Amino acid sequence: MAFPELHAEAIAGIVDRVAQRYRRDPTCLVQILREVQEACDWIPPEAIDRLQVVLGVPRTKIEGVAGFYSFFYTRPRGRYRILFSDNITDRMLGNMSLMERLCAALWIEPGKVSEDGLVSVDKASCTGMCDQGPALLVNNYAVTRLTEARIDAIADLVRNGVPLAEWPAEFFAVSDNVRRADLLLGPNPLPGTALKAMIARAPGRSEGGAAAMLEEIKRSNLRGRGGAGFTTALKWEACRNAPLRSGQQRFVVCNADEGEPGTFKDRVLLTAHADLVFEGMTVAAYVLGARRGFLYLRGEYRYLLDPLNAVLQRRREAGLLGANILGIPGADFDIEIHLGAGAYVCGEESALIESLEGKRGTPRNRPPFPVTNGYLDQPTVVNNVETYAAAALIALNGGDWYAGIGTKQSAGTKILSVSGDCARPGIYEYPFGVTVRQVLADCGAEDVQAVQISGPSGICVSAAEFDRRIGFEDLPTAGAFMVFNHSRDMFEVARNFVHFFQHESCGFCTPCRVGTSLLKNLMDKLHNGHGSPYDFTEIEKLNQILLSMSHCGLGHTACNPVLDTIAKFRPAYERRLEHTDFTPAFDLDRALAAARQMTGRDDPGAHIVPEEFGEEKTS
Ligand SMILES: Cc1cc2nc3c(=O)[nH]c(=O)nc-3n(C[C@H](O)[C@H](O)[C@H](O)COP(=O)(O)O)c2cc1C
Ligand code: SF4
Repeated sequence: MAFPELHAEAIAGIVDRVAQRYRRDPTCLVQILREVQEACDWIPPEAIDRLQVVLGVPRTKIEGVAGFYSFFYTRPRGRYRILFSDNITDRMLGNMSLMERLCAALWIEPGKVSEDGLVSVDKASCTGMCDQGPALLVNNYAVTRLTEARIDAIADLVRNGVPLAEWPAEFFAVSDNVRRADLLLGPNPLPGTALKAMIARAPGRSEGGAAAMLEEIKRSNLRGRGGAGFTTALKWEACRNAPLRSGQQRFVVCNADEGEPGTFKDRVLLTAHADLVFEGMTVAAYVLGARRGFLYLRGEYRYLLDPLNAVLQRRREAGLLGANILGIPGADFDIEIHLGAGAYVCGEESALIESLEGKRGTPRNRPPFPVTNGYLDQPTVVNNVETYAAAALIALNGGDWYAGIGTKQSAGTKILSVSGDCARPGIYEYPFGVTVRQVLADCGAEDVQAVQISGPSGICVSAAEFDRRIGFEDLPTAGAFMVFNHSRDMFEVARNFVHFFQHESCGFCTPCRVGTSLLKNLMDKLHNGHGSPYDFTEIEKLNQILLSMSHCGLGHTACNPVLDTIAKFRPAYERRLEHTDFTPAFDLDRALAAARQMTGRDDPGAHIVPEEFGEEKTS
């Protein structure tokens, strides 16, 4: 089947329409490119030509942005662009054999486009569906619970050119899988009640009101839920106190990039508790005096865009967003949603801000920090989805109430995304201080060998450590809790994570760009049976370089999964060591074996070096 190509005129029309909707604002370039691609199936050169004119942005910059994000295509990738989620938990659920099955049914090779230009099939980093994998994205929409039958049905739908809108709805069903609810995942307060409680505490949009709310956040001891655990009140206070130059304002940004493999709790908060998250952002805006907010939603959650926009619209109509919120003169605040486009590094707050500004998501030098020099170089608070949801509850119930839950250094609750070898994967919310053992019992995990806490950049705990506790005192986490039973090879777990870091390194700084590639090569070498103990020394050296010289947290943490598993599961590495002394990375004899077989010269004597070339060798 051949598909009609769009003419330059039609492409220009699409670009004009999209750019117009974004007020021809170059800071919306990522959003504009996304919508152009949704209309054209890729970003053709004619679209870039036209964007250059309508946005007044140089072609090289547009190409640079389009080239940065893995979900943007500047070459045709087919009308159906299928990406299999390739987190370790997808692997454990058999994603690779399902991908092979689909490729065989469609007569294509992974990574290539079919000859008729209909479809491409490839892999993507974790898509945030680990509790209902294996999963894939088709044109950025998640399809979950893949089975062989579902794969065969997808092959038929693609072959018959059936539009996505006509695919069975159950293919796109995403369950919340809430297994344990506490403060955040319990019944939703009515929209607006947290804001009203905040106003009641100190009426009017007075300085006193904002200061009183900040005081509650201070008393709550709330710490950020995005991983680093920075004290929220300190961040908000620094932004509130940051001087504004002429024409400047303050911004509130919600980080819903959720790219850490094995993490999917923000997905559930935004599905079932979006009002709470937006209410928390509005509380932050009140404290800061901000008028604009952004939700940066990962591209993998494209399916949430329309429902979330509907929630925002309802809040505007209810007087909870927009001008004069709750009838208070001057209390103006609104939120817009920007979608990411498949770049893990954009979860790093300064890279996220670059992306919000329509640029490549390259992390900035810090300091200055976003609280003084954030979005458009103006004071900006960036917090995780869960942090804002907690802030809304603090506005509702007060800081002392919140501080009384959890532990001394870790107030409140934590939502865990539980996946891997357990009977009940899903979302579990606990007061901080819960033991790993308790979570394992609740999710029905047996014969457990290890748990990876907080994703590849986090920490791998072995069975001897299951009495350790979730919390900033002991095991801090952004939420991922991946379970591995004794049938799993912890070396392969670490190798999958290393591939992830190498793939997601943005390439801006050499230590990380080269270091993650070298690390991947070392792990592949060990996997192929060419490793030696010397490689452990190499890995340690690489870690020192990545730790001390990388520009951002991705590079700093890239060696973590390897170091942890070497320390705790060394036999998984040692059984791969063929050579106990130094060995070259390249085994010429083995590399030539396939060629010998193909040419019918598979005779061990066939590659003996003739006498005239010196001593006789057999390898
Ligand atoms: C490579 C990298 C990826 C990150 N991804 C996320 C993410 O997906 N979500 C998130 O909230 N924070 C992420 N962070 C942390 C953010 O930079 C930032 O600390 C966080 O959004 C602050 O919010 P919090 O104070 O509420 O935790 C990431 C950091 C790094 C270095
Ligand atoms: S450490 Fe890696 S991800 Fe971070 S800026 Fe450097 S290359 Fe990019």
